[in-house]
Amino acid sequence: MSMNNCRGKFIVFEGLDGSGKGTQISLLSKALSEKGIRVLETAEPTQSATGGLIRDTLAGYQKRTAYELAALFLTDRIFHNTSVNGIKNMLDSGITVICDRYYYSSFAYQGIDTDLKWVMNMNLNCPEIIKPDLCIFLDVPTEQCDERIDSRQSREIFENVATLNRIRKRFFDVFALLEGSENIRIISAAGSIDEVHEAVVSSVWEVLGIQ
Ligand code: TYD
Repeated sequence: MSMNNCRGKFIVFEGLDGSGKGTQISLLSKALSEKGIRVLETAEPTQSATGGLIRDTLAGYQKRTAYELAALFLTDRIFHNTSVNGIKNMLDSGITVICDRYYYSSFAYQGIDTDLKWVMNMNLNCPEIIKPDLCIFLDVPTEQCDERIDSRQSREIFENVATLNRIRKRFFDVFALLEGSENIRIISAAGSIDEVHEAVVSSVWEVLGIQ
């Protein structure tokens, strides 16, 4: 059953913690549904066994090297694409997939502590990892992150902001490397929820060919 004309679109959201990805994904999902477009919301790491290993590592319960973690994210991503209810089958059946984080996060987070080229190549050259039709990066200004940090955690503010800054810069370096080969839109997440939603919708409508 070949339904190339009806293939769903694959939209990825990236952004730092507190960038409002969750809120914007819900709003976009609702807007697409209202247009009669079938949508699947998904996220990485997934709920797979490998996703569990990843979460244990991120939480500090299990120690792994950055290379092991990068490889686990790759494994989880292949599962995410090829499992029965995975990205590939959903797109093939005409469903538009919205994913919270994807390989751009591996480049930004694992690329710092490993060899960035290695992480990029194994993800971008893997035939079972589908290239998104659109990646939306919700860009939060550091001051706004700062405001969102609970004052009770003031001892950690600088460290947190410094880390976020480092990762934000890494995302931009990676986007520069990917220019021309990936469809990436950087959207300022500094405005109100509605303003950001408007910007998201106009990018997505363009990719979907909706007026
Ligand atoms: P989580 O709390 O599940 O979601 P979020 O921060 O997006 O609300 O955290 C996912 C964490 O995993 C986040 O800190 C980024 C990290 N991550 C990587 O390091 N590499 C990856 O490839 C992906 C997909 C996520």
